[in-house]
Amino acid sequence: MNSETPQVAYIGIGAIGYEIAQNIHKHLISTTGKPLLIHNRTLTRAEALKKRVPDIQIAETLIQVAEQANIIFTCLLNDTAVTQVIDTLLSHGLKPGTIIIDQSTIAPAMTQQLVEKIQHHNDCHFVACPIMGPPAKARAAALIILAAGDANILEKKVLPILIPATGPKAIRLGNEPKKALQMKLTGNYFITSLVEMVAEGTTLAEASGVGQEKVQELMDALFPGSVIPAYTNRMVQNTFFNEFHFPLTSAKKDATHILNMANEYNVKLPVTEIFMDHLNTVVNDLGDYDITGVVAQTRREAGLNPDGSTRPVPEK
Ligand SMILES: NC(=O)c1ccc[n+]([C@@H]2O[C@H](COP(=O)([O-])OP(=O)(O)OC[C@H]3O[C@@H](n4cnc5c(N)ncnc54)[C@H](OP(=O)(O)O)[C@@H]3O)[C@@H](O)[C@H]2O)c1
Repeated sequence: MNSETPQVAYIGIGAIGYEIAQNIHKHLISTTGKPLLIHNRTLTRAEALKKRVPDIQIAETLIQVAEQANIIFTCLLNDTAVTQVIDTLLSHGLKPGTIIIDQSTIAPAMTQQLVEKIQHHNDCHFVACPIMGPPAKARAAALIILAAGDANILEKKVLPILIPATGPKAIRLGNEPKKALQMKLTGNYFITSLVEMVAEGTTLAEASGVGQEKVQELMDALFPGSVIPAYTNRMVQNTFFNEFHFPLTSAKKDATHILNMANEYNVKLPVTEIFMDHLNTVVNDLGDYDITGVVAQTRREAGLNPDGSTRPVPEK
């Protein structure tokens, strides 16, 4: 390590940031030797990571991040969180030439606003690298990275930190950071639509008397190794009530961005609209479950109980 070695920071030690930050830190230690600096609004989450990886460094405030870091990753809940954090960093003043890389899933228009804010600040740069894959894939360094922004910055400074430490490859989407978010929302369009399709298909089989377990057998045989058997399993076994892989409320944020993007480009997405209706009804009537919990509503519409069991016939 020498005095020129950039300080890398990671802001947002949530479910996925916790895993990504660990892998980036390991990579930095084995290459530059300089530990990762982490920050989280709720300090205990950053402290939990430090307990696991003792040589990781904690910045208790965003001022410390702004003062020390040259390369800053953010992975935060939503548009409001990303704007608040970046506005705070900018108000403290970033070091000249600082690179900010946002990995959150936010609206493409918000990403564009961040580009405009940051490019006028002290020769700083903003690129977007949202990710596809759950925390378990992040832990296994198996995320898919969607990268867009200045090619020189991405190829020389950012992707060498992310690949292979957090994922094996990046899909490159050109110079405009918002394109990475448009790709991310397109990806989540496929995820949410597959969940809706499996919910409808398993309900059809159950309501008709074929049995949803038979759908599991068929999906295992037709689409082995894909997410479809996994979604089917979460519905058939009703694990969505207790095991959260992707909460319905987070899926709602993403589906809202997907529908706004479709509206902007005059694209009709009826599956997303139906998914959103089912999601809203489950959240309002029953509570926040895993995304596969939309099946509770397709079951209710078919006269079944939310867990797929048959409703008793009311006595006359
Ligand atoms: N989990 C996944 O499978 C997955 C996959 C791909 C992409 N993503 C995206 O990655 C991002 C993070 O997701 P996650 O699952 O890690 O969420 P999470 O566990 O809920 O963590 C959210 C993070 O945002 C921080 N935060 C929220 N509001 C804030 C605010 N106003 N100011 C500062 N920090 C704030 C939280 O800090 P506190 O701890 O203080 O609340 C936490 O660090 C989201 O945009 C999500 O869509 C998630």
